[in-house]
Amino acid sequence: MRNMDEDNITRAVIGMHASSGNPRLRVLMTSLVQHLHAFAREVELTEDEWFRGIQFLTQVGHITTATRQEFILLSDTLGLSTLVTALNNKKPQGCTEATVFGPFHVEDSPRVELGGDVANGAQGEPCFVSGTVVDPDGRSVPHAELQVWQADAAGNYDVQYGADEPHRARATLNADERGAFYFKSIRAESYPIPHDGPVGQMLEALGRHPWRPAHLHFMVTAPGFERLITHVFRNGDQYLDSDAVFGVRSSLIADWDEHPPGHAPDGTVSAVPFYTLNFRFVLNPASAAAAPAGRKKTVAVG
Ligand code: BEZ
Ligand code: FE
Repeated sequence: MRNMDEDNITRAVIGMHASSGNPRLRVLMTSLVQHLHAFAREVELTEDEWFRGIQFLTQVGHITTATRQEFILLSDTLGLSTLVTALNNKKPQGCTEATVFGPFHVEDSPRVELGGDVANGAQGEPCFVSGTVVDPDGRSVPHAELQVWQADAAGNYDVQYGADEPHRARATLNADERGAFYFKSIRAESYPIPHDGPVGQMLEALGRHPWRPAHLHFMVTAPGFERLITHVFRNGDQYLDSDAVFGVRSSLIADWDEHPPGHAPDGTVSAVPFYTLNFRFVLNPASAAAAPAGRKKTVAVG
């Protein structure tokens, strides 16, 4: 084709995708091209602005590594991650809500026994976490697996200290036969998402801060139930209403109760003040989680 202009370019690009053998990819790319072109027309994108955007995405690519996921940060700070989570995690009333995954999950985190020490030397004030995993009728989900991960008092996840460091403040454990779980960790603190790269510059240029309210991450799985990826947020945190990644849901906010030095829930005597947190996870049965007919959940490209 020739003589492309602002009136025919969109149709021409979409037409080139018509013979793709992957129908879902065709749907995605057609819509993406339509929206991208509509954006350029709507804002009357200048060539300088287009090039600045290309430079920005190049910087995002350059800083990205296996442990520095700048593209995820970009998706998170633009609300895309929360939108995709919301679209894909509609649950019956009463089930624990999902929220953003974040870039700091690790496969195969260390296993701890019930009651074990998840902190493993991470800096922070002691916190004893307990709770139950139940179905929507309140029946316990025996032996549910919980993965938990959190930042330390300095606001860093273990992986941010380097690949050779031992895992700290993250673990995998199983609830008991009554769905109960308990472990020792450190108090969650608010922290800024990594903001020394292009996403941080973008936030600054937009007059936005990079802070997330204090939270614990959980991934909870059990046979017959939809996998739950969520956080528990600390009540009273100053960033609950301005989370840099839009992840807060009211139903996920809980109290971290402060206790003076003395007898701790694990039977030891704490010489320093400590905190306790209790939370109930309500899992969505897998049958209720099936994708609506005609809605594809995954896309294979290539
Ligand atoms: C996190 O909570 O770990 C996180 C989420 C989104 C961006 C950065 C960090
Ligand atoms: Fe986090």
